[in-house]
Amino acid sequence: MNAAATKHPPASGHAPAPATLADDLHASPLVAQAVDTIVKEVRARSARITDVRGPASPAARQTYEDYMKRCADLRGRALLYPYIGSGLGHGALVELMDGSVKWDMICGIGVHFFGHSDPDLTAAALRGALGDTVMQGNLQANGDAYRFMDLLLKAAGRSSRLKHAYLSTSGCMANENALKVCYQKHAPASRVIAFKDCFMGRSVTMSQIGDAAANRIGLPLSTQVDYMPFYDPVAAARMGQGRYIDMCVSHLRQYIERYPRQHACFIFELVQGEGGFNTAPREYFTALMDVCKASGIAVWDDEIQSFGRTTSMFAYEALDLGDYVDVFCVGKMTQVCATLYTAEYNPGPGLLSGTFIGGSVPFAVGSRVLERLGASDFYGPEGRFARQHRAFCDQVRALAARRPEWFPRTGPCGEFADIVGGVGGMMRFTPFGGDKDKVMKACKALFDEGVIVFYCGHGPYHVRMLPPLGVFDERDWPRVFACVERGLAKVL
Ligand SMILES: Cc1ncc(COP(=O)(O)O)c(C=O)c1O
Repeated sequence: MNAAATKHPPASGHAPAPATLADDLHASPLVAQAVDTIVKEVRARSARITDVRGPASPAARQTYEDYMKRCADLRGRALLYPYIGSGLGHGALVELMDGSVKWDMICGIGVHFFGHSDPDLTAAALRGALGDTVMQGNLQANGDAYRFMDLLLKAAGRSSRLKHAYLSTSGCMANENALKVCYQKHAPASRVIAFKDCFMGRSVTMSQIGDAAANRIGLPLSTQVDYMPFYDPVAAARMGQGRYIDMCVSHLRQYIERYPRQHACFIFELVQGEGGFNTAPREYFTALMDVCKASGIAVWDDEIQSFGRTTSMFAYEALDLGDYVDVFCVGKMTQVCATLYTAEYNPGPGLLSGTFIGGSVPFAVGSRVLERLGASDFYGPEGRFARQHRAFCDQVRALAARRPEWFPRTGPCGEFADIVGGVGGMMRFTPFGGDKDKVMKACKALFDEGVIVFYCGHGPYHVRMLPPLGVFDERDWPRVFACVERGLAKVL
């Protein structure tokens, strides 16, 4: 990335005369050369990572095992996966500290959307590291924090009323800020409506709203949450779509009648992440959002996991729901997390603040991520992400045709809609009837065979992939699924 890309480029396209010494630093040919040299050095090693492989040597493996024991000691519990990265990779392939290489199909649960050791993002990170401070805050931030905000709000403004932003360093904190914005706007309303199986983060409040009992063991319950069913395609097909939606609307109205003017917001995860990559047709969401609008309840859209990955940059854009959204959260692949809100929801002074709003490197890389998402052929029904999703589905269906015994359509949680699902870069498949133990075992076996995945859903359980679609080559799906097949074969 060149100096011009770190600042607003001039309309003329000519490099501006440096106004500050910092501009002068970024315009320096020596800096450009140094960045280029480092990127080339990274690339020379990265290019040697070309396929899945085992540990570099038995000794390297032993050192790795010892190191993992030490890490488990430091953490107070064993690592979930025996994963410690070396710090180098190549696109979807990542090197571990023992020299082994795996396909990274989960990417830090959706963070590394442009894969590992991406040259362009390495250059952006190096430029970001030239900043005078490592971290930036609400009181004192540099231009790059506002540049990130500007890029995000311009993209959001294309199809929503979102106008302002507050930045933070985790998705959970972005959600905390969103909740405060909703509470303040609708004070003294203190109740929250959320969907079954939603996930919001791990703070005391978000653990209460998130619909997973295991995540709030031992926590006092201070937030009043009313849960709505998420769209169930099996029930909708059985009852008829219209009747099913009417039933859910009546469920919502009951809460509102039971607690009049006491709900501050309804949290919508338009594509549920942890909950199992579930989504719904537009009319399901509009029916519920219309009730919110008529009842003075904020529509809060949490796209921390889905942002960037569906068939539009924003899931609300893909579903044409932008006009409804009052408050919005983003994180993960943007590197910096953010709460966005409309002018009506702009909170009073003092509500949102914090020492850190982000780091200089995440601002530089996050801005570059937004630019790359915006300038690509990724989106639309025939865009690259939609095509990649079809290629993924084809692989699962071909595998199920070869091994039908691995893919029953019913399991411990009953019948489910399909063995493959999700949208765009949110990909899931459901082996072994969605049985929890077997799906967990499958995740571990896949790891051993060279593919890093995770699970999602609360029954049925699914194998979850959040691949680095920004750089992933469609032609590599058969290579990934060769490892998947070997892994699943080990489960039974
Ligand atoms: C939908 C959603 N909201 C919030 C969060 C919390 O984000 P973080 O883990 O960055 O705090 C997540 C994380 O997985 C998420 O998927």
